[in-house]
Amino acid sequence: MTQSPDNVPEIADWNRLLDGKVAVVTGGGDGIGGGISRLFAAHGAIVEVAEIDPERAEKVVDDITEAGGAARAHVVDVRKLDDVQRLAATVLADHPAPDVLVNNVGDYRPIVRFHDSNPESWNEMYEINFLHAVQVTHAFLNPMIDNGGASIVNVHSVEGMRGYPGEPIYGAMKAAMAHFTTCLAVGYGRNGIRANGIGPDTTQSPQVDYLTGYEDADHLWESWAPVGRLGWPEDPARVALFLASDMSSYVSGHNIPVDGGTKAGGGWFFSPTAGRFVNRPRDL
Ligand SMILES: NC(=O)c1ccc[n+]([C@@H]2O[C@H](COP(=O)([O-])OP(=O)(O)OC[C@H]3O[C@@H](n4cnc5c(N)ncnc54)[C@H](O)[C@@H]3O)[C@@H](O)[C@H]2O)c1
Repeated sequence: MTQSPDNVPEIADWNRLLDGKVAVVTGGGDGIGGGISRLFAAHGAIVEVAEIDPERAEKVVDDITEAGGAARAHVVDVRKLDDVQRLAATVLADHPAPDVLVNNVGDYRPIVRFHDSNPESWNEMYEINFLHAVQVTHAFLNPMIDNGGASIVNVHSVEGMRGYPGEPIYGAMKAAMAHFTTCLAVGYGRNGIRANGIGPDTTQSPQVDYLTGYEDADHLWESWAPVGRLGWPEDPARVALFLASDMSSYVSGHNIPVDGGTKAGGGWFFSPTAGRFVNRPRDL
């Protein structure tokens, strides 16, 4: 195929990368999803916020609208098929299909160590970290194909890309999300669907709160993450924007850690006393 990439935005349009595009963001009310909803709206997207918490949903939509953007709240639990079907029916009543689908919902809590776990806790991890993405993607896939294509962005975790000691079922469900992404990309590329994943780590959010109880830990960040700082919802949101937009029209099937380098640096720690990275047991 020798088609030219004529859908790549002109540089002059790089401040409106999603102009007029419809984006569904699950868990789009707060945390990383909230950052994605706000950034997408700032780039001209019509954001359909699928959020379980009515106050979070209302707040993000109010903020976006006040800033001159377009967003609508859908109070849904994406673990429940009925809610997903209601979400799809409402969105599809107004638009032929989403141009962008962000499956962002997920939670590592409650942590149940595997030797203490049970079928109920396994199922909870499955529903909140994987099932919802299958249900939401399935609900929108045919319309997205019929509409000429879309970009799917799945937010999973760096814990799906490395060994996670706390909760193997959580790690496995995140790995399932990552591989679901890869398989969708291959299976539906010919239908105009691109699918990519983001694996966050160490990112401030209501769920992963580094600001409470770590007040004295600022100086430790330089040893904790190679880039030497805490992540913010805007960090994965910027990567999601790239993956959602036509800027990444030749990128599909990839899972990108957005982690300040924690995955890449596994086993290496910055030692402020030595002034370099070390991989031997020693006081940093
Ligand atoms: N923050 C991090 O450092 C980090 C690290 C690894 C992975 N992640 C992943 O990134 C994603 C976002 O994480 P976060 O830290 O922003 O989480 P968060 O809990 O702070 O925000 C999640 C949002 O989703 C909503 N939500 C939760 N359950 C829902 C449901 N069933 N249906 C609809 N909405 C629901 C919440 O109300 C909230 O607004 C998750 O998949 C999480 O596992 C985050």
